[in-house]
Amino acid sequence: MGTALVITSGKGGVGKTTTTANLGAALALLKKKVCVVDLDLGLRNLDSALGLQNRIIYTIVDVIQGRAEVSQALIAHPDFADQLYLLPAAQNADKNVLTAQAVKRVVGELKQKFDFVLLDCPAGIETGFENAVAGADGAILVTNPENVAVSDADRIVGLLEARHLEFGPRLIINRIRKNLMQQGLTMNVAQITEHLAIPLLGIVFDDDEVIAAANQGKLVAAEENNPAAQGYQHIARRMLGETVPLMSLTDEPKTTVTTNEQTSATTVDDDAVTEEPTVTNDQAVENTNDLSETTMAEETTPEPPKKLSFWQRLFGRHKS
Ligand SMILES: Nc1ncnc2c1ncn2[C@@H]1O[C@H](COP(=O)(O)OP(=O)(O)O)[C@@H](O)[C@H]1O
Ligand SMILES: [Mg+2]
Repeated sequence: MGTALVITSGKGGVGKTTTTANLGAALALLKKKVCVVDLDLGLRNLDSALGLQNRIIYTIVDVIQGRAEVSQALIAHPDFADQLYLLPAAQNADKNVLTAQAVKRVVGELKQKFDFVLLDCPAGIETGFENAVAGADGAILVTNPENVAVSDADRIVGLLEARHLEFGPRLIINRIRKNLMQQGLTMNVAQITEHLAIPLLGIVFDDDEVIAAANQGKLVAAEENNPAAQGYQHIARRMLGETVPLMSLTDEPKTTVTTNEQTSATTVDDDAVTEEPTVTNDQAVENTNDLSETTMAEETTPEPPKKLSFWQRLFGRHKS
């Protein structure tokens, strides 16, 4: 039985679709069987992001309305040898066909066949968001280091926490521009993580190649030396239980080693009895951009945990 995660944000244009496509690809490259589902019915961007827009025969709407089986609507991505599939959206369909119950049923079916089902959610907090969350076991919140994006994300955190999903929300900060962050012209990682008070799953740098690739229906996720691709690869590895240090946010190579004590503050987390390291306020002041050694999947509690952490449970499900 796989895990369904909704990729959500509040604000539009922060990179939900890009994240769904590239994280799906990064997990597929780690030999996980992944289905990405376009639940942004009106916009229907995920098929283009994957370069699959010309292969659509049936959509999720056809599945919901009984014109096609899930297996008939799924499109295998030709570059990912049976590991990455898309369930596409319909552009002109009446959005009302997508009810919470219908999404749950389709996602339930997909979870039988896939390790991960990633749900690309529409922006906002309306019905489209509600329906996407209804099908999810957990949530990944995408934001940018901009005040409006963070404050919209904050509203979503509240809504997600009220749902008590099996896996509480985890944060991806996308489109980080090191120079602006270093100059204090955008919020930094510590400030955003602390403001939203949910554990950080990873960061992705702003990179021109992401835009160029998207325009050609290509993904950066498989690239070796692309900074944004590395972000997605690290996130995928963390989702499979690996401890991967956060990428450096400064241009200079760092030589200091940060200890557990310096990174072991506990965030507000609906399911964390074990502590998951995040960034403290003090660090944000003293050490604004130095999170390079912060680890995420590391256990800091000496006692055996009473309840399994997000990472342990997710990894437990996906051990190969
Ligand atoms: N890390 C990144 N670096 C550069 N451009 C990005 C990055 N992530 C997303 N983008 C671009 O930002 C725009 C919005 O992204 P998209 O994934 O469509 O957002 P959403 O689905 O949240 O509306 C797109 O043009 C996309 O190519
Ligand atoms: Mg989108």
